[in-house]
Amino acid sequence: MSSKKSVKPTAKEPIHLPSKEFSAKARIPSMAAYKKLYKESIEKPDKFWAREAKELDWRKKWDKVLDWKAPFVKWFAGGKLNVCENCVDRHAKGARANKAAIIWEGEPGDKRVITYAQLHRDVCRFANVLEQRGVKAGDRVLIYLPMIPEAVVSMLACARIGAVHTVVFGGFASEAIVDRLEDSGASMIITADGGWRRGKIVALKPAVDEALKKYKGVKSVIVVNRCNNPVAMQAKRDTWWHEETAQVSAKHTAKAFDSEHPLFVLYTSGSTGKPKGILHSSGGYLTGTYSTTKYVFDMRDEDVYWCTADVGWITGHSYIVYGPLANGATQVMYEGAPNFPDFGRFWKIIEEYGVTIFYTAPTAIRAFIKAGDQFPAAHDLSSLRLLGSVGEPINPEAWNWYHQKIGGGRCPIVDTWWQTETGAIMITPLPGATPCKPGTATMPFFGIDAAILDDSGKECKADQDGRLVIRKPWPSMIRTIYGDKDRYKKTYWSDYPGLYTAGDGARRDKQGNFWIIGRLDDVLNVSGHRLGTAEIESALVAHPAVAEAAVIGRPDDMKGQAVAAFVTLKGKYQESPELREELRSHVGKVIGAIAKPDDLHFAPGLPKTRSGKIMRRLLKELVTTGKVSGNITTLEDFTVIEAIQKKISR
Ligand code: WTA
Repeated sequence: MSSKKSVKPTAKEPIHLPSKEFSAKARIPSMAAYKKLYKESIEKPDKFWAREAKELDWRKKWDKVLDWKAPFVKWFAGGKLNVCENCVDRHAKGARANKAAIIWEGEPGDKRVITYAQLHRDVCRFANVLEQRGVKAGDRVLIYLPMIPEAVVSMLACARIGAVHTVVFGGFASEAIVDRLEDSGASMIITADGGWRRGKIVALKPAVDEALKKYKGVKSVIVVNRCNNPVAMQAKRDTWWHEETAQVSAKHTAKAFDSEHPLFVLYTSGSTGKPKGILHSSGGYLTGTYSTTKYVFDMRDEDVYWCTADVGWITGHSYIVYGPLANGATQVMYEGAPNFPDFGRFWKIIEEYGVTIFYTAPTAIRAFIKAGDQFPAAHDLSSLRLLGSVGEPINPEAWNWYHQKIGGGRCPIVDTWWQTETGAIMITPLPGATPCKPGTATMPFFGIDAAILDDSGKECKADQDGRLVIRKPWPSMIRTIYGDKDRYKKTYWSDYPGLYTAGDGARRDKQGNFWIIGRLDDVLNVSGHRLGTAEIESALVAHPAVAEAAVIGRPDDMKGQAVAAFVTLKGKYQESPELREELRSHVGKVIGAIAKPDDLHFAPGLPKTRSGKIMRRLLKELVTTGKVSGNITTLEDFTVIEAIQKKISR
């Protein structure tokens, strides 16, 4: 085991082989087994995916596994199923009825254990509430909740009645809710009085009230009482979760829906100011999340699995809700901050519940390294057998620390590359088979035909940087951008006709491992969260003092990337530390705290091309290297760079 510290992953990192004991029990016990199944999955995708899908409950079998008219796809066309029934009813009926589905812990330390039978009753009740409130199949329901079991219940109840959920991360502010309401046309909101975060109540309902001053299409708001935090309730429109669920039956007959029936819309940042609504559908998405959970986490009935993501992100959708529950897994769900009351909280939870599989993000690992080894050392982590990482490249230092200090040197680490759009894990080690090197997500999952192309569309040679593409459709892929087929085609399918472009740069080493370099577009990855530079820029220019703004990502040891903003003020405004703070919190108010610029520089002007395009590349170079070395002949005004350079170096 190396203790070598390096920030950038290199192919020179040592190889970690899965232990014999792990492999012996794993579903995929060797590279030979992986290669054999991978070959089949690429050559005969119908056969491979039909076998996976058959492990789910279908009310009507599909007529055709794959119907591909690029870039539009149907998986299991003609088949009918109910996604919620697959995640809940089939376990609640059988031997897993009294098995814990969710072991939940609130930040203050309150606990709830929800068995599959109980989850079934909760979901049925809430499905009845939704129907009573007039929600029908195809209607959009916006969910804005903290990490409490009601978030999972709401999502599953929507799926049960065929309503399309759109979950908004609790850290987003009211403007973000307005954008998502307007784009999705949601008619109902499920929210809470607040949630606990770092010992304080973070209120949620006021942001909903604020949003509903602008958007008039919501007929009903259901509010969970999580914290006894006083809220304003608008008569007729707003009702309490506990009152609504008390007056309905715990039985509900689920209808079957078409395999391509929309399941959810999840908004993610793109390179324009407007977030994109990524639409996922039912049969394919469920098959993809079911199958990846089964193989990548090698999920067993005995496991206690814990994914620390928030349900507001795709990781929460696929690997807290649909994947694990479709597998009948037992999982831990935690409401609060990793450092409350101190940085030992996660390790205490792992010890207390005997967590066996732990899935988290590199940014969290880096925060734990900084906090100190004494926190994990104070807990017995010997129940762990498998670790996972998601959201950004994991630097070797973080990988090695995670492996040693958390995994005790014995747990494989699955570094999983995927996206909101891909729905499920795409490139990943299989824990009993794949030799791992810190920093690489290694090999494509079954059925995933990943490649790296140069600008001309030719496949890159080993170790040559290029663009990551997927050459064949896969079941859990994005179906479209909600309400905008043209943007869907343009964003993902226009770089190379017929191929999906992920927007990530990558290279492949001689062994065939994929190394993800990072985004190629104007999307930042801040602490594993995707943020659009254009979104933050448009929030800044909405402030009366701002004439123009440019936002870039600068490398940051903890967050991966930090947000750096350059702002030019309107004539009558003066630069001041107060105004800088005001602009930062303005972004926090408009988008949410995660988008607050870490640095905000006032600039007399922004570097532009003669046609008026802001040259963000130059700003990026300035903040990372302090100077500009590349080609600046297209720059309209050279003095701008000098002026900014002086400001930054001051
Ligand atoms: C990045 C999160 C390197 C990547 C599931 C991708 C990663 C974006 C990894 C998607 C990884 C995710 N290694 N980079 N293991 N996982 N990314 O939509 O840039 O929030 O395009 O989905 O995160 O972010 P999203």
